[in-house]
Amino acid sequence: MDLTRRPRRLRQDRLRGLVSETSLAPSDLVAPIFVDATADERVPIESMPGHERVPIEESVVRVEEVLATGVEAVMLFGIPRSKDPEGTRAWADDGVVQEATRRIVAETDAYVLTDVCLCEYTDHGHCGPLEEELRDELAAADAPDAGACDRDAGPDPTLTVDNDATLKALETIAVSHAEAGADMIAPSGMIDGMVAAIRGALDRAGFEHVPIMSYAAKYESAFYGPFRDAADGAPSFGDRRHYQMDPANAREAMREVALDVEQGADVLMVKPALPYLDVVSAVRREFAHPVAAYNVSGEYAMLHAAAERGWLDLEDVAHESLLSIKRAGADLILTYFAEDVARVL
Ligand code: PBG
Repeated sequence: MDLTRRPRRLRQDRLRGLVSETSLAPSDLVAPIFVDATADERVPIESMPGHERVPIEESVVRVEEVLATGVEAVMLFGIPRSKDPEGTRAWADDGVVQEATRRIVAETDAYVLTDVCLCEYTDHGHCGPLEEELRDELAAADAPDAGACDRDAGPDPTLTVDNDATLKALETIAVSHAEAGADMIAPSGMIDGMVAAIRGALDRAGFEHVPIMSYAAKYESAFYGPFRDAADGAPSFGDRRHYQMDPANAREAMREVALDVEQGADVLMVKPALPYLDVVSAVRREFAHPVAAYNVSGEYAMLHAAAERGWLDLEDVAHESLLSIKRAGADLILTYFAEDVARVL
């Protein structure tokens, strides 16, 4: 037995810090925030302990709470005052994200990212207007109950979101966010061509300095459950497997990401994070762009649920999760733990 090699030599107190390969700082984190145009007071989100939907009037106070922890960036999600088949409230000048952004930008130093998608704004909960055939089918069948998520229920599951019609909407939304003062635009719909469309629209509107963080490899994941309650964005029928990626595929993620790079994405996001660290790591190796990972609602909820039962130490597992995401190659992390972790860093 050769005991001349002793890796434990490097694990002594006072030395561990010197040889540590990965570190976590508040400036690596982005805190997601839910602004709700239908709320007149803060509403706790049951499946995401510690998080709330805040009324537009409270968005500045909410962001100040984030900034007080040392986190410098927020990602805004909006719950509109009404929904329709096209999701028109998503690009309204007095829309929820537009209003909140204007206030936050005017009154704080936060770096503001906005989620650009239609699922919170359409009455059917999909990430864009539906294909014509599907609309006809729905009209004929009298739309199924909202909230029913059964894959087998509802209309023909091969029909889905109208990709190219969605691009036009995304362009308008992105420009309206930039006009409101958003610092970075983050399209999350996995619509083919979305980055090029948004880049073109932003540039034509004079926002060539506004970067795009593309949800480049976003999987059709069951870990989004709590978010869909929080943002009221669950599809009312079917699912998102025709536009979000199959969890079985990693090589496909490289093709997806490469397309977004060609189209001008500035930051490349992988989502979810923990179950997809192989993808985070592969994107890091393959591309020179900054890599973001989204530690999603289900990843947050499951640690909270276990900690509530006394099965895990919340502070420790939250820190270890974020550290692992960085170790895998992420430069920045979107996480509901942002404030809690930043506070103890
Ligand atoms: C909107 C969007 C979703 C999330 C972020 N943006 C939901 C979805 O795709 O269904 C999920 C975030 C989370 O679970 O924390 N398209």
